[in-house]
Amino acid sequence: MQTKDFATTVLSWQKQHGRHDLPWQQPATPYRVLVSEIMLQQTQVTTVIPYFQRWMDTFPTLETLAQASEDEVMALWQGLGYYSRARNLRKAAQYLVQEFNGKFPNNLDELLSIPGVGPYTAGAIRSFAFNDYGPIVDGNVKRFFCRLFGIEGDTTRSAVNKQLWNKAADLTPSHNNRHFAQGLLDIGATLCTPANPDCARCPFRSQCFAYKHNMQKELPTPKAK
Ligand code: ADE
Repeated sequence: MQTKDFATTVLSWQKQHGRHDLPWQQPATPYRVLVSEIMLQQTQVTTVIPYFQRWMDTFPTLETLAQASEDEVMALWQGLGYYSRARNLRKAAQYLVQEFNGKFPNNLDELLSIPGVGPYTAGAIRSFAFNDYGPIVDGNVKRFFCRLFGIEGDTTRSAVNKQLWNKAADLTPSHNNRHFAQGLLDIGATLCTPANPDCARCPFRSQCFAYKHNMQKELPTPKAK
């Protein structure tokens, strides 16, 4: 499949059926994208929304977060779990204020130097906040790609993970990436679901390896026990 055709299909689906009213999309500043993506890493959208809104009411800017005490930050995170995420967010704010004068860098290496920011979050900031080139692969995108391209093997294995990231790097448009990135996440989260994917509504059905071979249940390959 051509990169351009793939992107065109994702974009037209996203425009009609994707999610456009998530609170971190309006406006998608780098700070709001960072906070939301860290919250969304291990937590579902519906759970995250009220936490995100409270967070933004309390710490509307990077500077307010950098100045907050660890206790204040942890109190707001209470109930979301994986508490190192909250500690890292506060450290990230302090780091950005000290090293970058409170202004987010937009290149990949500098984004990766922020505490708690890995390739996924760096790609998300580049895509959603800067509308620039930034491949993103989360669990939803992995499932979608494994089925679409017939990629087998445990996706937590580094060879398989690398194959998925290479696919994303090839298919991601070189610029204007915001809606494409959201479209990928939304197809993975709302159509290409773990159980009973909605293939009837999927714009990639005619090209999908798993659909063609009736392997939606076998792909992605379950983790080796
Ligand atoms: N999961 C991770 N990032 C997301 C986003 N930007 N929108 C919806 N779900 C997500």
